[in-house]
Amino acid sequence: MRLIVTRRDHGGYEAVTTRDDGVSYRLADLPRPRRILPLFGAAEIGYHRYLNRETQMLPSQRDLFEMPRNICYLNSASYSPLPLRTQEAGRAAVGRKGTPWTLDTAFANGQHERARAAAARLINADSADIALIPSVSYGVATAAKVLTIASGARVIVLENDHSSPVLEWQTRADAQGFTVETIRQPDDGDWTSAVLAAVERPGAPPIGLASISSVHWSDGGLIDLERVGAALRRQAAIFLVDATQSAGVLMMDVRRLDPDFVIFPTYKWLLGPYGRAFLYVARRHQGGIPLEQTSFGRRDVRAENEVYFADVRYVGGARRFDMGERDHFISMEMAAISMEMMAEWGAAAVARRLSMLTERIAEGVRGIGVTVPERHLRAPHILSLNFKDGMAKGLVEGLATEGIYVAARLRRMRISPHVYNDEDDADRFVASLAKRLRGG
Ligand SMILES: Cc1ncc(COP(=O)(O)O)c(C=O)c1O
Repeated sequence: MRLIVTRRDHGGYEAVTTRDDGVSYRLADLPRPRRILPLFGAAEIGYHRYLNRETQMLPSQRDLFEMPRNICYLNSASYSPLPLRTQEAGRAAVGRKGTPWTLDTAFANGQHERARAAAARLINADSADIALIPSVSYGVATAAKVLTIASGARVIVLENDHSSPVLEWQTRADAQGFTVETIRQPDDGDWTSAVLAAVERPGAPPIGLASISSVHWSDGGLIDLERVGAALRRQAAIFLVDATQSAGVLMMDVRRLDPDFVIFPTYKWLLGPYGRAFLYVARRHQGGIPLEQTSFGRRDVRAENEVYFADVRYVGGARRFDMGERDHFISMEMAAISMEMMAEWGAAAVARRLSMLTERIAEGVRGIGVTVPERHLRAPHILSLNFKDGMAKGLVEGLATEGIYVAARLRRMRISPHVYNDEDDADRFVASLAKRLRGG
């Protein structure tokens, strides 16, 4: 029997249960799903919400968050709020850590595998190809330990990309004899063409690796991973994708794209906690030596055995790359729940909603002294505003005094809505920005 809480077209929610023989019953009409949760127990609840039938767009999910109406939070690219359900799970998990004797022996493995499966689903990977890690930089360091970049080869990074996919290679370049080539931020905003030109530049040294974000964190520039991946394959180069700013929102299919490494954390677009991140490792690299040497990365190193180091060969798949002390049973479950929510909604429906909101803002700010990148060059969920004479000091802080939260990033203003934002938020931001730029 499965219980589905569904949002109705005309507002409110209904709880419907389906028996094993397929017959459905409506159990309750309620104004808010939170009232339903304690009634049936969260474990049996699946959330399903109607998509708008014409636009296939996810409706606002604001009431699944603790977000007062006067808060206009447009800063998910920095860090997102946690859904109420994730918060509740976190609180329950703190209590569980307070009473460890209540945990059965299968508990730990269940937690690891639930999170692994939830992360895998977001990029259409096999769970066995995902490692549990604490941060993007950890994932990049793991890749760097596994890979041998040929002496004299190039490693390509993006100008002002986030430090995590960049610094590891800069740190290793001299000792390993490769060069790091930084692709300049293109004036026309077309990152894909800039990357392709660098990869295919005639006469340039061979490419060993591209270590790049899927969406530039500072300007929201979109990188066409399919085209870049194909170009890299032609050069037999390795492809590491930092998917921090896209996982869950932009569809990624590792079976089709066939990257070497994909890394993403949960605390931004995946609505999860800090300290939980995931590393996809292509099978051709799974024989590498992990960053940390752990007992669970080996076939039989167990405290319960009479012989402790009984079999020190590595376990199969990407599990050997799991971080040490991986039993983060509070945040691991929170991460899993949030990622499962994102997967239930689906990247396409989420992206449609966020694209509607960023478009509305892009339209709204026309003629008030800012420019935005062309629509086909930017991600649907991040809008970067460029000010002709630079962004005025105190503008972002001023908006925050009104409860409007955006980020200053490299002289621009970055706006990053998520599923809890609606048209009112977009319009309120535009009105306040316009007023402030007029000096009002
Ligand atoms: C593109 C990108 N990569 C990585 C990170 C975070 O990296 P880490 O998990 O190593 O702190 C961020 C955070 O802003 C980011 O925007």
